[in-house]
Amino acid sequence: MEAMAGKSAQDEQTRLKQKAAERALELVEPGMTVGLGSGSTATLWIKLLGEKVRSQGLKIRAIASSDDSEKLGRSYGIPFTNFDEVSSLDLTVDGADEVAPGLALIKGGGGKLLREKIVASASKRFVIVADGSKQVEKLGKFPLPVEVIQMAEPLVSRELRELGFTPTIRTNQDGSRYITDEGNLILDCSGMLIDDPRALAAKLDAIVGVVEHGLFLGMAKMALIAEEGGLVERTT
Ligand code: 5RP
Repeated sequence: MEAMAGKSAQDEQTRLKQKAAERALELVEPGMTVGLGSGSTATLWIKLLGEKVRSQGLKIRAIASSDDSEKLGRSYGIPFTNFDEVSSLDLTVDGADEVAPGLALIKGGGGKLLREKIVASASKRFVIVADGSKQVEKLGKFPLPVEVIQMAEPLVSRELRELGFTPTIRTNQDGSRYITDEGNLILDCSGMLIDDPRALAAKLDAIVGVVEHGLFLGMAKMALIAEEGGLVERTT
């Protein structure tokens, strides 16, 4: 009974994610260079986009924020480019783990935060797709992912504990350490709601051995949030 209730809640969440993805598809215009995010909501959007490329001949070029998203895009015949060929992207659509006021975000639940931030930073328009459960008043209930160089992990963990976090090295289901597409570790930092995201971001940026963190501040221009009552478009 409980398992069935869990499944239908999950189905409902997927339906909402799909709604947000469908709305985001309307933002794509022929000729655009497009950034492909990562995670389950971005995946729904990539599939819709890929379908449009495959069946309607939509002309776009893409850069993906993860190997998985690139593989998926290629399976639909989406043509890919790179930052040698283009210096910016017209639009990037990606998911988020938390969306706070001002469209301050936590990302990286799927471990792709480094490339996600690179792609987002090169985008003229960075749009978030999510279901309503991602909205929060304050960031930090979702553990903040911090990507670190492997040899620096003990040093970085110590510094993160001094900031008030409880860092945990992310692992795979078999217990082995999760390694990012760029060969680094992820520390999931829990135990603290974030009062001042900008101040915290500056502190994290200053720790040697931190490659990137999941605070995405001042980057998203719009969030398409699908809720029971309909789709909400939040802008900054
Ligand atoms: C991956 C991410 C994802 O966008 C984030 O975890 C949201 O994923 P989902 O759409 O599956 O809820 O940041 O690194």
